[in-house]
Amino acid sequence: MSPTSLRSETEADTALPPVRRWRLRPRFLIAVLAAVALLAAPAWLWMDSLVPSTYSAMAMGYPDFGGGRADAAHGGQHGQWEAPPPQPGDVSITELTEQRTGPPEVAVTLTARQEGFTLESGETVDGYTLNNQSPGPEIRARQGDLVEVTLVNDSVPDGVALHWHGVDVPNAEDGVAGVTQDAVLEGEQHVYRFVVPDAGTYWYHSHQMSHEQVLNGLFGPLVVEPVDVSEGVIDIAALEHSYGGLRTINGSTGITRRDVPPGTTARVRVTNTDNGPTRAWVNDVPFTVAAVDGHDVNAPTPVQGKAVLVTAGARVDLELTMPADGSAVRVDVGGGRAALVLGSANADIPASTETDELVDLLSYGSPTPLGIAVDDPQRRFEYRIGRRPAFVDGVPGLHWTVNGHTFPDVPMYVVDEGDVVRMTISNSSGESHPMHLHGHHAVVLSRNGVDASGSPWWVDSLDVDNGDTYDIAFVANNPGVWIDHCHNLPHAEQGMIAHLAYSGVTSPFLVGGESRNAPE
Ligand code: C2O
Ligand code: CU
Repeated sequence: MSPTSLRSETEADTALPPVRRWRLRPRFLIAVLAAVALLAAPAWLWMDSLVPSTYSAMAMGYPDFGGGRADAAHGGQHGQWEAPPPQPGDVSITELTEQRTGPPEVAVTLTARQEGFTLESGETVDGYTLNNQSPGPEIRARQGDLVEVTLVNDSVPDGVALHWHGVDVPNAEDGVAGVTQDAVLEGEQHVYRFVVPDAGTYWYHSHQMSHEQVLNGLFGPLVVEPVDVSEGVIDIAALEHSYGGLRTINGSTGITRRDVPPGTTARVRVTNTDNGPTRAWVNDVPFTVAAVDGHDVNAPTPVQGKAVLVTAGARVDLELTMPADGSAVRVDVGGGRAALVLGSANADIPASTETDELVDLLSYGSPTPLGIAVDDPQRRFEYRIGRRPAFVDGVPGLHWTVNGHTFPDVPMYVVDEGDVVRMTISNSSGESHPMHLHGHHAVVLSRNGVDASGSPWWVDSLDVDNGDTYDIAFVANNPGVWIDHCHNLPHAEQGMIAHLAYSGVTSPFLVGGESRNAPE
């Protein structure tokens, strides 16, 4: 066909509209069909991603048995939102308690309020308090003590729940709204009772609307002292927190002084309550990393001029001996204006000298037997963090994935009590994630193929940087349904969360609905 004939045909079309319409009909139909096909896929994806306003966490996602025994109670399927019916012999979370009666060794009442408050350093913040302060009061107990906390919600409109971060409490006391209890609404109260099994540094925080409530003040320190406290060691909690743009240590943007006599040993319990990783270091004098996440490091060696990475939610205990000449020692967490200065009140404040060199906990301290048969696990799981375009609850975006699945279609890792569990956590999502498993401590076996060679490195909060792969192990010794999520709390709220569930354990609680439970 010549160009001339083509042109004439076009002209003819313009002159005869009905013929043109008839002639274009098949093409039009194909176009419509193509458009429908193009729209149908996203429409289906959109619809399929919708999360109902109330559902059971037990029905979330799909079971992953990790090569171990399958359990009927965790046969959740995609799009099925009711908990599987309980089987004979199942145990409800509400029964997983200890010592609900009898006098506690430590009894505290924490009253939560929505109100403005003034930081130690004078700035005012609008947010939430516990007993009219933020951070909330320090809870101190001795290893093995029975702790009883009465949480009263005076005026937090969304309700509250308290989680004991890093303390391996019985499941019913774990404080996760919608999974282990209902949120405590205004005018209500809830009593937590748990024995603190391990000495160490912990913290507590709200696990209802946690991405909003923790940021704005609902958290505090929890210290468990060993049964035989080393005489003469001065013990100081140091909580790092940013209220909006105000970075604080123990609720103060400036220098916090603590009187520590020359020659004395101080243990500084650094706790990162923020959403991102921070660094802690001691200026000018040697120090040891005495403990990580509530577990003592075996044979820690003194370091100087290095910092320790403290991932979100994690704790490191730094130990140092005060110089004999009476000069003060500065402990920095994150640097900047807020710092802890140990020494007499009139000693000069030392300058901060930041360093890029980090203590590598993979090789720090000396090995000692782990006490668990890590080479012969009953379950092997993968927790592969990624990111891809998808709909989550109808919202299109670049969403987090766990093993390729977006929220709520995430794995439910199923175990039996007593199982040795191996888990490989990897991250190719482009951002770092502080991964936190409730109710258990895991030991790091390797990072990026390099075996751990130092002290057993026990964690409850692990910084998994983009590109990193960690191999960890733990013993399933605390029955329940436990959340396993990113402690960059907005990430958790966006759906970076999975569960570890023991076979035969059920939860009667629901996310959403009348109870208004919103754990993240
Ligand atoms: Cu510190 Cu799930 O929390
Ligand atoms: Cu994250």
